Amino acid sequence: MIIASNFKTNYTRKSARAFIEAVQQFIHTTHSTQEVRIYTPATALDSFDANTLLRVGAQNFYPVQNGSFTGEIGFEQLEEFHINTVLIGHSERRHILKETQAFIAQKFNFAKEKAIEIVYCVGEPREIREKGIDAVMAYLWEQLEGIDIGYTHLIVAYEPVWAIGTGLTASNSDIEEVMARLQAKLDSPLLYGGSVKVENIKDILSIPHCSGVLVGTASWDIKAFCTMIQSADQLEQ
Ligand code: 13P
Repeated sequence: MIIASNFKTNYTRKSARAFIEAVQQFIHTTHSTQEVRIYTPATALDSFDANTLLRVGAQNFYPVQNGSFTGEIGFEQLEEFHINTVLIGHSERRHILKETQAFIAQKFNFAKEKAIEIVYCVGEPREIREKGIDAVMAYLWEQLEGIDIGYTHLIVAYEPVWAIGTGLTASNSDIEEVMARLQAKLDSPLLYGGSVKVENIKDILSIPHCSGVLVGTASWDIKAFCTMIQSADQLEQ
């Protein structure tokens, strides 16, 4: 399964390294078989030991190799550290940073050209959820517009906006219904994100079509994150 942590705007270069090395050690000593991902802030990207199932990825990049885009990082800056997994379409970038679907598709196509893993996020706001499942699915498919859903290295993360950072998790039946409908058209692995924590991870990972989780808040605690990796291992035993 894929157990991914999105650090968002947390951790420094030094503290991120300590966290990553502790998780590497945990994977090594427990013989974990999980595919672990940690998306750090850009300033914490670095070269890490590639001998484990853990990959460090980028939360964001500007869809250019390099150039004049003040404040942005291009692909050259990711390649320096052999970054081969990125988040695209996260709701915080869609809503707070105002990324349009056209721009998101541009980023997707750029990363696809590079043949790297893309964790592509979709998710509906509360007012859409209140209109029912058909409205939710229509919204999610719009968020996949311009995206090659047949891309080999695509992973889709379903993260309902109203469940992110709120402590509210979608009900298992709601998640299952969305995942079943997504999987009917998508071959890619599906993740769930939105207030995943130690207490609910096993239930979430047991939902049909759920291949893993993308965790924010609860994953920022090293012990909790390792416990979540261990939970996935236990489910697979
Ligand atoms: P929380 O786990 O804090 O709800 O965040 C989820 C998320 O946005 C992961 O990308």
